[in-house]
Amino acid sequence: MKIIMLGAPGAGKGTQAKMLAEKYGIPHVSTGDIFRANIKEQTELGMEAKKYMDQGLLVPDELTVKILLDRVAKDDCKNGYVLDGFPRTIPQAEVLDKAVAELGESIDYAINVDVKDENIIRRMSGRRACLKCGATYHIEHIPPKQEGICDKCGSELVLRDDDKPETVEKRLKVYHEQTQPLIDFYSKKGILKEVDGSQDMKDVFAAIVAILG
Ligand code: AP5
Ligand code: MG
Repeated sequence: MKIIMLGAPGAGKGTQAKMLAEKYGIPHVSTGDIFRANIKEQTELGMEAKKYMDQGLLVPDELTVKILLDRVAKDDCKNGYVLDGFPRTIPQAEVLDKAVAELGESIDYAINVDVKDENIIRRMSGRRACLKCGATYHIEHIPPKQEGICDKCGSELVLRDDDKPETVEKRLKVYHEQTQPLIDFYSKKGILKEVDGSQDMKDVFAAIVAILG
């Protein structure tokens, strides 16, 4: 099964994608996580991506597309994947479509996790992330067992550089301009499904599972 998670920054794509990956036994592929891992390792790719991410801008398509195509070509993606944060522009979606079609396959569902902008700003300021294993928490909704420490790997939790309020506003603007048009793109293909992302995360998950079967 090949699934795309659409939604604004902070809508809960990552939260849901991780749960779906576990339930369906397919990898969770997040371009944001790949970039952050590269920033942490100070790779050339990471340094280049950071320039854009810290400003709330999208990393250029050429760079992003290559990373994504390399990742989904790996063996563990043979039976499908959950894409989180990709595609984010129409050109990215077109490249993905072409690559999947070349394998004689297609994307099964694009799930739009819908949350209003006001809600998003509140969520992001409470988010804490583990840069080592990618786990995310929320100081009110999903607190870690021990404050500031990842339950899964014991590393320190941080407020992402791009979760500062002024950067979040910029990311939302970029989302509305460049990513929101994908809702129409996948709707025309007949694979768009909408879920209300402002519900409790268990209810959001149940709504998605009901769609996927
Ligand atoms: P990326 O890492 O993808 O960030 P994003 O899309 O901005 O999304 P987030 O990770 O912030 O939000 P999310 O929807 O995953 O929400 P989460 O589940 O964590 O990208 C970062 C940057 O990398 C981009 O800005 C760009 O520069 C670059 N980039 C990445 N991909 C790219 C691409 N394809 N092209 C170009 N550039 C790219 O949830 C948010 C918070 O809310 C958490 O604290 C969570 O615990 C909480 N929460 C989740 N669900 C609920 C709920 N139902 N109720 C209450 N709280 C909830
Ligand atoms: Mg995410």
